[in-house]
Amino acid sequence: MERGKIIVTGGVGYIGSHTCVELINAGYTPVIIDNFSNSEKFVIDRLKELTKAEIYLEEGDCNDLGFLKSVFSRHSGIQGVIHFAAYKAVGESSSNPIKYYENNLVSTINLLKVMEHEQVNNLVFSSSCTVYGQPDILPVTEESPIKPAESPYGRTKQICEDIITDFCKAKNHFRFISLRYFNPIGAHPSGLIGELPIGAPNNLVPYITQTAAGIRDQLTIFGDDYNTPDGTCIRDYIHVVDLSKAHIAALTKMVMGNNTEQKAVYNIGTGTGHSVMEVVKIFEKATNQKLNYVIGKRRDGDVEKVFADVTKAQHELNWKTELSLEQSLKDAWNWQKNISSIETH
Ligand code: WQD
Repeated sequence: MERGKIIVTGGVGYIGSHTCVELINAGYTPVIIDNFSNSEKFVIDRLKELTKAEIYLEEGDCNDLGFLKSVFSRHSGIQGVIHFAAYKAVGESSSNPIKYYENNLVSTINLLKVMEHEQVNNLVFSSSCTVYGQPDILPVTEESPIKPAESPYGRTKQICEDIITDFCKAKNHFRFISLRYFNPIGAHPSGLIGELPIGAPNNLVPYITQTAAGIRDQLTIFGDDYNTPDGTCIRDYIHVVDLSKAHIAALTKMVMGNNTEQKAVYNIGTGTGHSVMEVVKIFEKATNQKLNYVIGKRRDGDVEKVFADVTKAQHELNWKTELSLEQSLKDAWNWQKNISSIETH
């Protein structure tokens, strides 16, 4: 069933590309906007191979208002927008905050301007659990207090949610759903698309797979003296395919006019926390790979424990995770073996 076009900013990226697959599976036609600042062009061919569908690509930057306007004018029947395009390296955001504030805020503001002009009123916003900081009570619900983010990156997510909220208050036809991701991991089971970190990965799972592949010598576990069962930090790791399906559920709720509120926020995780050491051990068992790791000192800015209460998304989006942590790690390893021969920029 043809359900119309969806603008997907950052659609060639890790989560964006997996979401485009699920959009097509659900009958939508993605129109991808990407400046390739954190993605690779070969992913477009992989998407075509995976879906056998037409993929519209508009190469350019959401910071360029004129370009953004031209994209919307070239495509009729746009039902909504999924906004992924943003810089997301936590550490870099602290060393270069202006780059993050300018890019992440201006791209969102431009998008809202063009959506208003083109009367496109459905937006799914890619947000993050970092808006909660270190929660006092676990699991985290959508009503958990928003805390000062640990990084400029996290603050851009908080500020963008506030900008879109205020925009909704001024434009009563506009709807947005903010998805607060916990820790996306894994890759498409086909092994055709997955995460492509530029340089040494900041995140745990790509660092694990690159260590297992011999690209990195050793994984450093950042601290084992936290107040957790095995001393290592706890996170809620969610398979990127499950995360992608949550976007389809959110978008469809708005496109079908089933959302009563102008604004809704959902935690998108599995609802279960796992420690770093558990992830390492499950990876070793699931892939039959022995991992070379060492315990190092804590990483600044890490929260000790965070995992989601996902009952709101389950009830209101009729969505829940289907893939296990073991499956996520197997798919991450499968993807790593496939790309070890591919040079990324
Ligand atoms: C997970 C755990 C590390 C690397 C980040 C962003 C968040 C979201 C998800 C975008 C922590 C430990 C890591 C390593 C380690 N991204 N670790 N050795 O920090 O929970 O969240 O990614 O939305 O916004 O902040 O994810 O994978 O970096 O770390 O021990 O080499 O793994 O200390 O406990 P994090 P992560």
